[in-house]
Amino acid sequence: MARSKKQHDAGRTPAETRAEMSQVVLPNDANPLGNILGGTVMHLIDIAGAIAAHRHARSYVVTASVDNVDFTRPIRVGQLILLRSEVTRAFRTSMEVEVKVYLEDYVRGERCLTSSAFVTYVAVNEELQPIPVPPLIVRTAAEKRRYREALGRRRRRLALAAQARRRCEEEG
Ligand SMILES: CC(C)(COP(=O)(O)OP(=O)(O)OC[C@H]1O[C@@H](n2cnc3c(N)ncnc32)[C@H](O)[C@@H]1OP(=O)(O)O)[C@@H](O)C(=O)NCCC(=O)NCCS
Repeated sequence: MARSKKQHDAGRTPAETRAEMSQVVLPNDANPLGNILGGTVMHLIDIAGAIAAHRHARSYVVTASVDNVDFTRPIRVGQLILLRSEVTRAFRTSMEVEVKVYLEDYVRGERCLTSSAFVTYVAVNEELQPIPVPPLIVRTAAEKRRYREALGRRRRRLALAAQARRRCEEEG
């Protein structure tokens, strides 16, 4: 039976929101040097992050913000790109999701972290109005640390977003 929207939702643990995605890098994803395009990685980050947010909110979500992303080493055509995501904190209608990107060289049997990003998603209804999300239940020390740190990141990104909004208004 479908869960009633009004029914109390006690929330989910980070593990319950976790998602994993992998894909072989093909020539179409790459620049002329054979390295994956930054935009392709961003696209995959957004999808992997959205899956974790959907699992948490069990609703539609939109991407509100992507924090700084660094690409620390090239991922080449023929290698595997692996993405792991999970919700680090839920606020009222928004959720912060951490997405980690790994390069996997299946010939050498090596895997290393190449990027990580914090992405904020907002749960919305069919009219694109923000709707409340359930709480995130954190239990382990690492989950509690990420949860605490998420508040500082949220304050910084909302301050930057307010600055950007002011600039847009000034420029008309
Ligand atoms: C994200 C969006 C729904 C927020 O709408 P809004 O009218 O600002 O709504 P609110 O002010 O009620 O904010 C809703 C939540 O979004 C969060 N939010 C808004 N802008 C944000 C930003 N830049 N970064 C992080 N969170 C943000 C608010 O903090 C709030 O979270 P909370 O309820 O957990 O405290 C709206 O800006 C939107 O639809 N943006 C376009 C999303 C989209 O299309 N993304 C795809 C790429 S373009």
